[in-house]
Amino acid sequence: MSVSIKSPHEIELMRESCRILSEVYEEMGKMIEPGISTLDIDKEGERLIRSRGCIPNFLHYNGYPASVCVSVNDEVVHGIPNKNHKIKEGDIVSLDCGLIYKGYHSDMARTYPVGKISPEAQQLLDVTKQAFFEGIKMAKAGNHLYDISAAIDDYVTPFGYGIVKDLVGHGIGTKLHEDPQIPNFRQNRKGIKLEAGMTLAIEPMINMGGWEVCWLDDDWTVVTEDGSLSAHYENTILITDGEPEILTLRQ
Ligand code: MF3
Ligand code: CO
Repeated sequence: MSVSIKSPHEIELMRESCRILSEVYEEMGKMIEPGISTLDIDKEGERLIRSRGCIPNFLHYNGYPASVCVSVNDEVVHGIPNKNHKIKEGDIVSLDCGLIYKGYHSDMARTYPVGKISPEAQQLLDVTKQAFFEGIKMAKAGNHLYDISAAIDDYVTPFGYGIVKDLVGHGIGTKLHEDPQIPNFRQNRKGIKLEAGMTLAIEPMINMGGWEVCWLDDDWTVVTEDGSLSAHYENTILITDGEPEILTLRQ
């Protein structure tokens, strides 16, 4: 395993890549209304990325056919946009999307409520987001990678939710997926030592029910095995000697 340490110049490019992505999300977030199709969101996401001179990094990645993964309700991640799938009031919709700016990748995910959702669904969204923030409290130089995993696990597990194990966070830079892999559940090892200049995508995926997931026949869409709702919250971050910098959060 080799974990890249970004130079100050590379960090500047990562910052810009992530800043542009957060701008794209601000626009995509406004589209989440009952009646819009998951393909409408993808097409607009792709347009927003290209209009900023960037490239959608998910499109054609291992054959993935779209720029934005749109995953509704019990779909965990990698939902394939479809013009016939219209979102409706009460749904929760996860968007996962990234881009390439001057060779540098950014990656980010959010789960949005469609109109009014149940208090139970809202709690799942809140806990999934907070899981990210609990995790990155440990994300500083000198700590170990799996300190992040343990912090997420310790926060989420008391809610009775299932933490997805089949999919993990990752290093990111000149490739979308770099070393290391970052599980969202406790490991019985410490993992690598974190160093300033590492850029990581931390992305808890949390199910209201059990942690088990399965793949649909399209070979992409991951759904919860028990049909329960699932949420996703991801940012690209920079490890520093102090607090981590959350590169995909709008200032
Ligand atoms: N968003 C995923 C991740 O966070 C990658 C999706 S790849 C795609 O690592 F091909 F499904 F788009
Ligand atoms: Co990711």
